[in-house]
Amino acid sequence: MKAIEVKCLEHKFQDSSKISICGMEFHADLGETVALIGQNGSGKTTLFFHVVGLLTPSGGSVRVLGADVNSPGFEKARRNVGMVFQEVESQLIGPTVWDDIAFAPFNAGWAKKDVEAGVEEMMGHFGISHLADRVPHYLSGGEKKKVALAGTMVMRPKILLLDEPFAHLDPSSKRDLIRHIEHYRAEGDKCVLITEHDLGTIHLLSDRVYLLEKGKGMTFEGTPEQLMEDRDALSRADIEIPELDELFMRLRKEGYKVKVPKTAEEALQALKKMRK
Ligand SMILES: Nc1ncnc2c1ncn2[C@@H]1O[C@H](COP(=O)(O)OP(=O)(O)OP(=O)(O)O)[C@@H](O)[C@H]1O
Ligand SMILES: [Mg+2]
Repeated sequence: MKAIEVKCLEHKFQDSSKISICGMEFHADLGETVALIGQNGSGKTTLFFHVVGLLTPSGGSVRVLGADVNSPGFEKARRNVGMVFQEVESQLIGPTVWDDIAFAPFNAGWAKKDVEAGVEEMMGHFGISHLADRVPHYLSGGEKKKVALAGTMVMRPKILLLDEPFAHLDPSSKRDLIRHIEHYRAEGDKCVLITEHDLGTIHLLSDRVYLLEKGKGMTFEGTPEQLMEDRDALSRADIEIPELDELFMRLRKEGYKVKVPKTAEEALQALKKMRK
C-alpha cells in the first residue's frame, strides 16, 4: 500500500483562484523520505494541506494509507499523519511549551505517565527542556519551530510532513534536526515528506525528489543524484548545486567512478580511494 498517492489534484481557493497539480502522479511509500521542491507559490504547502486533510480537493484524488481524503475511512488514516507547518505559529496552541507538546498525546488518550515521558523525551531531543514553562507565542522563530517539531514527532506518526523545517534554525539546530530525521526514517516503516530548497540537505536526507511547477504539476521525479544531473530541472526549481556535489559530478563526467558524496567525510574517503 502506498503511504500517499496524488492524482491530478485540483484545488479551488475561496477567492476562486485555482491550483492544479496534474501531470506526473505523485506517490510516497512507507520506508522512504521524499523531497518536494519547487519555486515559491508552486503549490508545495497546498499539497501538504491536502495530505493532512486540511483542504479538500475540487478535482482529482489524494489517498493516504489507501483511504481517499474525501472518504469516511480517511479519519482513521489521518491519525497516522503529522505535519510541521511552514508557519508554525498557527499550530502552537498550548498555554505553555509543555502543554503544547502534551496536547496531542493527551487527546489521543495516552496515560499521564506516558505523556510525561514522551514530552520529556522530545524536549530533550530538541534541546528545549528549559522552555517547558514558557508561553509558545513569545518564543523566537527557531524555538517555536522546535516546539512544533516536538509536538508533532511525539506522536511518532507513520507519515511525517515537514514543510521547510530548517527555516529559522541555526546551523547546530539544523544538524540536530537532520540527525533526528535520519533516526526517525531509520525506524523503517515511516514515510517522511519534506519541502526544502537546499540541494545538499535534500541529497543527505531523501531517497527521491519531485519537482512541482506552478501550472504544470510534477515535472521531475528521480533520485537526488538524477536531479543533480538534470541541469534543466535544477534551473526550473531555481535550486543551486552545492560546490562539493558539482565537483564530484564533474569527476564522474571525466570518467571517475565515484558516487556524489553526501558529507565531507564521504568525499574525503572517495578522494583517498582515488589516490590509491
Ligand atoms: N488561501 C488561499 N487563497 C488563495 N490563494 C492561495 C491560498 N493559499 C495559497 N494560495 C496560492 O496558491 C499558490 C500555491 O501556494 P503554496 O503556499 O502552496 O506554495 P508553496 O509552493 O508552498 O510556496 P512557498 O515556497 O512560498 O512556501 C500560490 O500562488 C498562493 O498564492
Ligand atoms: Mg510553502
